[in-house]
Amino acid sequence: MSDLTFNKYAGAVLATCFVIAGLVQLSGGVFGEEKVAKPGFKVDVVEDTGGAAAAADTPPDWGTVLKTADPVAGQAVFAKCQSCHSLTANGTGPNLTGVEGRHPATEPGFAYSDGMKAFGEKQPVWDFDHLYMFLKGPQAYVNGTKMTFVGLKQPQDRINLIAYLHTQGSTLPIPAPNPAAAAAAATPAAPAAAGAGKPVATGSTAAPAAGAGGPAGAGPGAPAQQPATAGANPK
Ligand code: HEC
Repeated sequence: MSDLTFNKYAGAVLATCFVIAGLVQLSGGVFGEEKVAKPGFKVDVVEDTGGAAAAADTPPDWGTVLKTADPVAGQAVFAKCQSCHSLTANGTGPNLTGVEGRHPATEPGFAYSDGMKAFGEKQPVWDFDHLYMFLKGPQAYVNGTKMTFVGLKQPQDRINLIAYLHTQGSTLPIPAPNPAAAAAAATPAAPAAAGAGKPVATGSTAAPAAGAGGPAGAGPGAPAQQPATAGANPK
């Protein structure tokens, strides 16, 4: 029967087509996933960088940063706290006068959460370091606190705010600057600050000498000497 034979061959060809089509789809799916995976890794690298920067957000050397902090800017940041806190009485949050140096969860007349009371049991004082970390993300730092505030992401906002609160009945002394700790706490900022400071000092020392020599000497000659002198001094 030639018809049956034809049908067998036709059926075999058709089946083969289905198998090939199926393989193409399967392999397409495999390759498709690989293409998606590559951009995914690129995103991870960006997130890692952000994570590293966030991990570096540790308390600064207070003796150093509080000297240059801006309490007036800190007072402006404090506006974010004033929906719940005042400096005269308890409200939604406890009175914050004298909070620097206070034992956590001990302002009279305020009903603290169990989470804040537990924090007060292991941490005897609101010092600069603990305020800095608490204000970054209150609920992440003090488990179970009822301070529903998202936190201050910018380190300088927290430093300025802590400088402002220091003017509001703080009992904490400002420690002496510790340059080594300052350099360790702000590794990326330290070389920039040191690099900015040295040339300025060298330049101000060299400028009067070069300026004195400039008018007396030949005009074109003086500018050529200035860069050479300035370049030699820092080394
Ligand atoms: C949405 C309201 C709210 C905002 C906004 C808020 N807080 Fe609070 N804060 C609270 C409450 C409520 C508590 C008590 C927390 C507890 O008992 O768990 C508290 C507790 C505190 C404490 C602990 C005080 C103590 O006596 O132990 C500090 C310090 C503090 N807040 C600082 C701030 C600062 C600074 C800001 C602004 C950057 C701020 N809070 C913004 C509601 C708020």
